Amino acid sequence: MIRLAIMASGSGSNAENITKYFSKSKEIEVAAIISNKADAYVLERAQYLHVPSYVFSRSEFLETNKVQNLLAELKIDWIILAGFLVLLPVSIVDKYEGRILNIHPSLLPKYGGKGMYGDKVHKAVVEAHEKESGITIHKIDANYDEGTTVFQAKIKIEPLDNAEKVAQKIHALEYKFYPVIIENMILNRPFEKEVTVTPINE
Ligand code: GAR
Repeated sequence: MIRLAIMASGSGSNAENITKYFSKSKEIEVAAIISNKADAYVLERAQYLHVPSYVFSRSEFLETNKVQNLLAELKIDWIILAGFLVLLPVSIVDKYEGRILNIHPSLLPKYGGKGMYGDKVHKAVVEAHEKESGITIHKIDANYDEGTTVFQAKIKIEPLDNAEKVAQKIHALEYKFYPVIIENMILNRPFEKEVTVTPINE
């Protein structure tokens, strides 16, 4: 079994979706959910999904080897970031080079970088009257939201869509594609790198 650790700082709806997707897999399993926030809802999800969860403070992440040690102890093969808001230390990035994936709720390089996460991204997209937005799945290097893009999915933004509506559309793309792209990447299967999704009611 290939073992994943999901790292998440907030609600964890992607963490849950990914865990459920792989619960039936014979090749890949979610072995741990790791957070930097003791009150993150993702930890409750971990509990009812029966996935062991761990919390480390930002300084434990950045200034100690505790997280590296845990990853080694649990024999983690890949790290999946799902709304994780701490920049990973170089030691982890180096050790897992090419085996850390992140999802960002915009078409990077647009609306990325420090401070650009979750709903802030969607508000900025609406304020700029963008005609499309989407998701980017990329490998991680030592900078926020950078590294090689492995997949993008685009969706149309209608003139009357507010940030909430955009968030809804983007979450739907995340749930549909992130687990599948993770699986394809890990199992080295070919996949389309760019898709445009048309809502069913159009
Ligand atoms: C997701 O939309 C993810 O793309 C975004 O945080 C959200 C987490 O939602 N990540 C970033 O903005 C990274 N810069 P969730 O906790 O419900 O999965």
